[in-house]
Amino acid sequence: MDLQLTAKVESAYSSPPWWYDLRGFLILKSSYRGSLLEQVAFFERNLRERHLEVAIGSGTLFSMVRTWHRWKGRPLPQVVGVDYSEKMLGGARQRFRAQPEIELLQGDVTDLSFDDVTFDSINVANAFHCFADADAALESMARVLSPGGTLAMNVLLYPRGWQPFRWLSERVNRWGIRKGILHTPYREEDVRGRLLACGLTIDSERVTGNCYFVVARKP
Ligand SMILES: C[S@@+](CC[C@H](N)C(=O)[O-])C[C@H]1O[C@@H](n2cnc3c(N)ncnc32)[C@H](O)[C@@H]1O
Repeated sequence: MDLQLTAKVESAYSSPPWWYDLRGFLILKSSYRGSLLEQVAFFERNLRERHLEVAIGSGTLFSMVRTWHRWKGRPLPQVVGVDYSEKMLGGARQRFRAQPEIELLQGDVTDLSFDDVTFDSINVANAFHCFADADAALESMARVLSPGGTLAMNVLLYPRGWQPFRWLSERVNRWGIRKGILHTPYREEDVRGRLLACGLTIDSERVTGNCYFVVARKP
């Protein structure tokens, strides 16, 4: 990432983790038009033995995903959580301090510091549309995924549906772009095309609210 962009991401995510969580919930309802339960269930299904949580943020959502996984009686994976913002990671470090199976690292998704073929699953929750270089992010994630491994993401789409909800989503998105917490919304076919261009195949896809939920696989 260039220096200007680095400073932008750092300042966009410099709020205390509690404010970030509250703001995230309001954005989920007004812009994504989705539900927390739906996200937890979707991302829980994509936890495998060696898991990479990209842009883990303060870890609030991932802790719910992990709890849901445990309740279902499934074995807990070895997890590496990466995020660009030290401030967000500070919240995650505090949250997961008693979970030795979760390693947290500061890093840029476009330049992941892992060997090829390291992970069986990758989740990108609420973050793909925050990345300034989406293609570099996908290439980097595809590289560290093992053959047969899966990448799950929910991607913010351009607002759709009825007024005044569409108007509200547009307003929130414009504010997010100004603030630096949103890079751009997408069109579903654009994201699909980018995944295929990285050599991944599509396992499942659906649109709910203003979000595209996709699971892609490395052949
Ligand atoms: C909207 S938050 C989502 C956090 C978490 N996954 C969740 O669902 O609550 C987006 C996160 O992406 C991170 N991020 C933005 N650009 C990044 C990059 N290039 N590499 C790694 N993380 C990045 C931010 O620091 C922030 O924590």
